[in-house]
Amino acid sequence: MSETLLILNGPNLNLLGTRQPEVYGRETLADIEGSCKQVASGFGVTVDFRQSNHEGELVDWIHQARGTAGGIIINPGAYSHTSVAILDALLAVEIPAIEVHLSNIHQREEFRHHSYISKAAKGVICGFGSLGYILAIQALTAELRAAQQQKMAN
Ligand code: DQA
Repeated sequence: MSETLLILNGPNLNLLGTRQPEVYGRETLADIEGSCKQVASGFGVTVDFRQSNHEGELVDWIHQARGTAGGIIINPGAYSHTSVAILDALLAVEIPAIEVHLSNIHQREEFRHHSYISKAAKGVICGFGSLGYILAIQALTAELRAAQQQKMAN
């Protein structure tokens, strides 16, 4: 399987490592990118890892993933709780997506309990810190393999 997984990170995640470490841990986004790339290569997939503080840029990247990425892993940050635009983009491209949050959003403030993005996600992983990204890579590659086997059987 030579697939690319697009891993998108939303606003403020560029500050990981120094941003509320008691909530988000001490790893930087570059650390997480490194672990994702290492684990992905073990699964035979490539990772395109990006971060933006701008909603429209995330929407553009989701559109561009059509035809280039087999799956999307997204930590939309605060846009999880506000962005119908990112939800619509994910629904439009029909690429299997997994939503990841470092923190357990259900244990936090009420406004974090709802995510618009979940409606477009195959699954949601939250509360495991950066391990969530690794679990998402594992889940998405398993999904992609199952879909490929299904296609070959038909
Ligand atoms: C987050 C949770 C969001 O509520 C928050 O706005 C973030 C990070 C997480 O990874 O836990 O920026 O998505």
